[in-house]
Amino acid sequence: MDSKILEIIGGKRLRGEVFISGAKNAALPGLAATLLSSEPVNISNVPEVDDVIVMINALRSIGADIDIKNNIVKSEIKEIKSNIISGDIVGSIRASILFLGPMLARNGFVKVSQPGGCPIGHRGVDYHFEALKLMGADIEIEGNDIVAKTNGLSGIEYTFPGKTVTGTENIIMAASLAEGSSVLKNCALEPEIDDLIWMLNKMGADIERKDNDTIIIKGQTSLGFVDHRIIPDRIETGTYVILACLNNNRIVVKDTRPELIKTLLDILKRMEIDVTVKEGDIRIKPNENMLPVNVETETYPGLPTDLQAQLMVLLTNTEGASQIKESIFNNRFNHANELNRMGANIGIDGNIARINGKTKLIGKENIIASDLRASAALVLGALIAEGRTTIKNSFQLFRGYERLPEKLRHLGAEIRILD
Ligand code: EPZ
Repeated sequence: MDSKILEIIGGKRLRGEVFISGAKNAALPGLAATLLSSEPVNISNVPEVDDVIVMINALRSIGADIDIKNNIVKSEIKEIKSNIISGDIVGSIRASILFLGPMLARNGFVKVSQPGGCPIGHRGVDYHFEALKLMGADIEIEGNDIVAKTNGLSGIEYTFPGKTVTGTENIIMAASLAEGSSVLKNCALEPEIDDLIWMLNKMGADIERKDNDTIIIKGQTSLGFVDHRIIPDRIETGTYVILACLNNNRIVVKDTRPELIKTLLDILKRMEIDVTVKEGDIRIKPNENMLPVNVETETYPGLPTDLQAQLMVLLTNTEGASQIKESIFNNRFNHANELNRMGANIGIDGNIARINGKTKLIGKENIIASDLRASAALVLGALIAEGRTTIKNSFQLFRGYERLPEKLRHLGAEIRILD
């Protein structure tokens, strides 16, 4: 996997339509939720990306009769055959933490490798543990594994100390089969959480989001069958929308949910970029005199941290001084150095990036991709750079972007994988 090197010949003007895949960050909790039912669970519009395949293999390893074909997952877990989710299978993907809640609720015991360290900074899971312990779980760390067990989970009143996406998802799933009701406060507002709630309620759960960040769950004894379609990926959408703003491209982003990236679209309008939304499509007319902006990443519905790196590329292409404040993660500017190697002029000062545009990017050999979204930003940079760029560690991209080379080639990009 690590050998994947992407080669891009930049400077080509891209045109055409790009169709958005299902949301990785909705599919991952959706797959974990299949553990909560012993009846068939069908999930469509699932992106066939590496993180999803890892989760499917992990579910199969503990007894799921599960497969994915043409973006449709069919799963049935009549009984849990193993309590151990091996690190060899889930490795260090962050989403492995999502096995905790459902496995405790369904099986009362699970041993799963700790979610990996991430090059984007601190990835705490203490809120997950705190809430599950309050529900009646014992959680220990044994080497690199989390070992969690319970004689039965009870509903809780709990206020998350900080907004956590997978933390909210984990506790919602655990509470769905707990004894009694739960009231969770200071929950994250990301749309992928509401997609999970919708799926669980169709399985027979009783979950209600009240006044935004409070979620009430009435525990059930079991959940049943569901046929669920995953929402479009708002981060993939934002990535291609930003590409559409570059290099006088003419790209229409199709079959998505524009309202899920409203904050990004508002920023582009502040930059005087022509954005047209029509039902599920977003059409962009680039403006070579777009205006610099100062922005900050926030929890939903603010500017997603997962679009910060991609927006930084656009700002290198914007005349004037712009600024991005990264308020969610404490080490999420690794892409800035690589963009500077290509000719950008970005200064980092703690969690503030100062971008001085407009700079012309020049293709470079052996640009290093550090994490999933940084990789996407480096692809955007390489697409507008003059000449040839090779990007190492680009396996990161295939964790979260479905058929990225094919979608870009369809728009006229010159991109290939060098093994
Ligand atoms: C989810 O990660 C996403 N992943 C991330 O997307 C996304 O960047 C992140 O939310 C923020 O939006 C999935 O949904 C699978 P958090 P998650 O828990 O849930 C701290 C991508 O590129 N925190 O909301 O792991 C934490 O350290 C990925 O698709 C604790 O301290 O993020 C971080 O600073 C990257 N203790 C902040 O909260 C906890 O128990 C937000 O983390 C939980 C979180």
